Amino acid sequence: MMKKQWILPWVIGHRGACGYAPENTLASIGKAQALGLSWIEVDVMLTQDNELVIFHDESLARTTNGKGKVRDVTLAYIKSLDAGSWFGDTFSGEKVPTLDELLNYCRKLKMNVNLELKACEGDEEILVKKVLEALKNESQSSFLLSSFSMKTLYLLREKACPFRLAANFEGWVEGWERIAKHIAAYSLHYPYEALTQARVDRVHAAGCCVLAYTVNTPEESARLCALGVDALFSDVGDKVETCS
Ligand code: G3P
Ligand code: MG
Repeated sequence: MMKKQWILPWVIGHRGACGYAPENTLASIGKAQALGLSWIEVDVMLTQDNELVIFHDESLARTTNGKGKVRDVTLAYIKSLDAGSWFGDTFSGEKVPTLDELLNYCRKLKMNVNLELKACEGDEEILVKKVLEALKNESQSSFLLSSFSMKTLYLLREKACPFRLAANFEGWVEGWERIAKHIAAYSLHYPYEALTQARVDRVHAAGCCVLAYTVNTPEESARLCALGVDALFSDVGDKVETCS
């Protein structure tokens, strides 16, 4: 089978440019653009009141001055938090963006988005519904939707999601062909350590692109380029080699 038509650049900014600015904030997206990146990866989660926020961890503790879990608190509470000071004083006052705020900002910057859906168990259906509603006027070519949750990916496909889909894996797992076929995956995303020539070739032979996370050195970037990996996620998009 032929590999899918390629739409992505070599480097996708991980959580924006999270080596230089607090992850998953508008400052981080702005920094990714300043580095010359045209695609970023961010995470989307549900709050207690079923609002969509751009956030990575279940818990608020690591990247805000708040307490508790995102799913257990309201958007109003999350909006009262500082999501920048933990990273550096210059980012003090940075807020957790909603998905709508992120979409508006990315439209303004002409930034394309790999949106990773992170659902708590049992919340997959509502998360998928709300994300597809929020994206209903967005251009199909500017988004790639991904998840580690196969249930979330299956639901996206069932609900006739018009965007390209990607499965995230925490390592090399057998059985990926069935998943890739079921969701008609555009790409499969692996930790870079898991990728070998044979594995990259197998995924390509199944018609999917291969992406590697999270790559922060020119040496690793060069190894992956030589394997024929299609793109990588990086915290420091200016520090990895180009691939041609
Ligand atoms: O999307 C690939 C990778 O960045 C996902 O991992 O944990 O950073 O969301 P995480
Ligand atoms: Mg992510």
